[in-house]
Amino acid sequence: MNINSTILSGYRVLQDISHLLSGKQHVLFVTDQNIVGLPDVQALIAQVKQAVPQVLLVDNVPAEPSQHDVARILSQIPQTQTDLVIGVGGGSVLDVAKLLSLLCAGDETVTLDSLLAGEKPTRRTLSLLVPTTAGTGSEATPNAILAIPEKETKIGIITPVMMPDYVALVPELTTSMPPHIAASTGIDALCHLIECFTSTIANPVSDNYALIGLKKLFANLETAVREPGNLEAKLNMLWASYYGGAAIAHSGTHLVHAMSYPLGGKYHIPHGVANAILLAPCMRFVQHAAQDKFAQAYDLLPDADPTLDTAEKAQALVIYFTELVKRLDLPNTLQQLGVEKDHLPYLVDAALQVQRLMKNVPTPVSADDVRDVYLTLF
Ligand SMILES: NC(=O)c1ccc[n+]([C@@H]2O[C@H](COP(=O)([O-])OP(=O)(O)OC[C@H]3O[C@@H](n4cnc5c(N)ncnc54)[C@H](O)[C@@H]3O)[C@@H](O)[C@H]2O)c1
Ligand SMILES: [Fe+2]
Repeated sequence: MNINSTILSGYRVLQDISHLLSGKQHVLFVTDQNIVGLPDVQALIAQVKQAVPQVLLVDNVPAEPSQHDVARILSQIPQTQTDLVIGVGGGSVLDVAKLLSLLCAGDETVTLDSLLAGEKPTRRTLSLLVPTTAGTGSEATPNAILAIPEKETKIGIITPVMMPDYVALVPELTTSMPPHIAASTGIDALCHLIECFTSTIANPVSDNYALIGLKKLFANLETAVREPGNLEAKLNMLWASYYGGAAIAHSGTHLVHAMSYPLGGKYHIPHGVANAILLAPCMRFVQHAAQDKFAQAYDLLPDADPTLDTAEKAQALVIYFTELVKRLDLPNTLQQLGVEKDHLPYLVDAALQVQRLMKNVPTPVSADDVRDVYLTLF
């Protein structure tokens, strides 16, 4: 997989994007209701409107979008071919912007239905993705995740052509994130990094991304949550999240993400919150099969104890995960989120059906194992 995006990063890096806007006739600007009103985003929209004759603003992408949300958004967009799609938002907005970069590229044979059926288009419009959470790393992955309400689950539309031309990591755009969102989306990035690092399809390229991302994340997540105005911690978290996405692009997540899909699809629990609940129990389950990798990750913690042996380090990492989720004040039981024990058979079945990710778990997983992990959450 090639990641050929040009990355712009740093404070005020989008203040002048005239080089990107020059000669463009139709720009599609995709965002959501919480983000469109931020002063820095208003300034960006004004800059685009000044440089480009036709700018269509789609500012109503919902959190955790479904296929029907994308169909509704598409119906608001005239048939004109778009020159540039700009997505500014969390993973929800970025995934929709990535899909629109395929669906507004002027090829009428590419439709939402054909993408859902697995078509791999070869064309898209130029794209710029600007994450406002840190995060999904969507700006570095070939995936767009949609909820499918009829099936009470989520699916991933995956095609490398969706990788953007430009990514901007702009710390001041993430300072307005409420602390609970900074915490849960940060745990999502952590799951991407540690799952890709311990996946059956991990390789030296994805390991490299995972190790850099984990080091940045361990050193900055709690500061970025506690001190939203700390631009250095916020930029480091954007990079950690980006590296998580890059690790996904070259490897793949496994147990946490497979088990979190039904929690998002059926109970509409936000993606990062579902992952936060699952992180420590899932990692405890795979620990025996990933001791060396866990020990390497442990060594990246700022206060790692170098005298521990490999097994002790692996154990200490799982304890760190448990305590981190508590310190970040994220829920750690399913009851807190309205899921009852009698839903277990449904959850187990749905998680096992996420074969795309279950095949990456570094140890065999049975239905009983999945049930036992869910049971620890009640
Ligand atoms: N494409 C991928 O590779 C990938 C990977 C993981 C998850 N996802 C998907 O991404 C989606 C979740 O994305 P997310 O976790 O980034 O959350 P999100 O985009 O749904 O945003 C969560 C909430 O935070 C608000 N928000 C975001 N940034 C803000 C800011 N700077 N200030 C104030 N409010 C802000 C949003 O408006 C929203 O209400 C899910 O649909 C998930 O399945 C995609
Ligand atoms: Fe994720």
